[in-house]
Amino acid sequence: MNGQAFSVLTDHRQRYCAAIRQARHEGTEAFQAWFNREAAHTPQQAQVRGFWDFSVHILTPTVCRLLSRPENRIALEIGYGGGRLLHAACHYFQAVIGIDIHAEADAVRDYLHTQGVTNFCLLQTDGAALACHDASLDFIYSFIVLQHLPSFDVLAAYLREVRRCLRVGGVAQLYVGTFSRLHPLYQLACFAQGYKETRPVEANHISLVVRVGRLKQICRALGLHMVETGTSYFLAPDGYTRRPGGQTYVTLLNTNL
Ligand SMILES: C[S@@+](CC[C@H](N)C(=O)[O-])C[C@H]1O[C@@H](n2cnc3c(N)ncnc32)[C@H](O)[C@@H]1O
Repeated sequence: MNGQAFSVLTDHRQRYCAAIRQARHEGTEAFQAWFNREAAHTPQQAQVRGFWDFSVHILTPTVCRLLSRPENRIALEIGYGGGRLLHAACHYFQAVIGIDIHAEADAVRDYLHTQGVTNFCLLQTDGAALACHDASLDFIYSFIVLQHLPSFDVLAAYLREVRRCLRVGGVAQLYVGTFSRLHPLYQLACFAQGYKETRPVEANHISLVVRVGRLKQICRALGLHMVETGTSYFLAPDGYTRRPGGQTYVTLLNTNL
């Protein structure tokens, strides 16, 4: 990453850390609600919606087809936030690693312990790396996070990390900001580049949308086979499939080719 990309990432990290620290100071409700404002106003709602999002958006039929023996598998979430998806993942896998740029892991850990969940580990990342050994993970997922990345370079860095950390045969289910949510004139202007970055002044605003064709290119170059792409849905299950959301998923298989 060049100097400018590095300083953009540093600003991004500081902005998120400050906003999430502030939410924590406002109490458990504000903290849990911060990560999924459309659906959750209480910690209990956040957990219920987390289980739904994990089941509907992460464990798609294709992911289920590609995964086996989950009781022996290690999963990793990029951007675990308040832990609502990680909470669900802990019931589906042997163990789950959560990485995030915020510094409030102790609050999330304590909350998950009160829910009786202990088979996880939370790590703070610099915002572009997975602090895991090569070929050590079976499944990597991310939801409502990659659309907030500060640049396409950071997304590319994460995809390289996904390739490095997934074992051969490992699977990733990643949601990025949908390119077609751009105004048609911007879509035209950014088509060849394949993405658009913006520089929001606040945390939790959309800062990156990517065209699937561009993602496919970069994944192919890395040796990640794109098995499927599709859309997110707004507030699953309420009217599920009637209202597409603003994210696009890619299901990736590490073929090591
Ligand atoms: C909207 S929340 C979603 C949290 C969680 N995935 C969920 O669905 O509840 C976005 C999260 O992404 C994290 N995040 C933003 N940029 C990140 C980065 N570069 N690397 C890792 N996490 C990041 C934020 O700190 C925040 O916790």
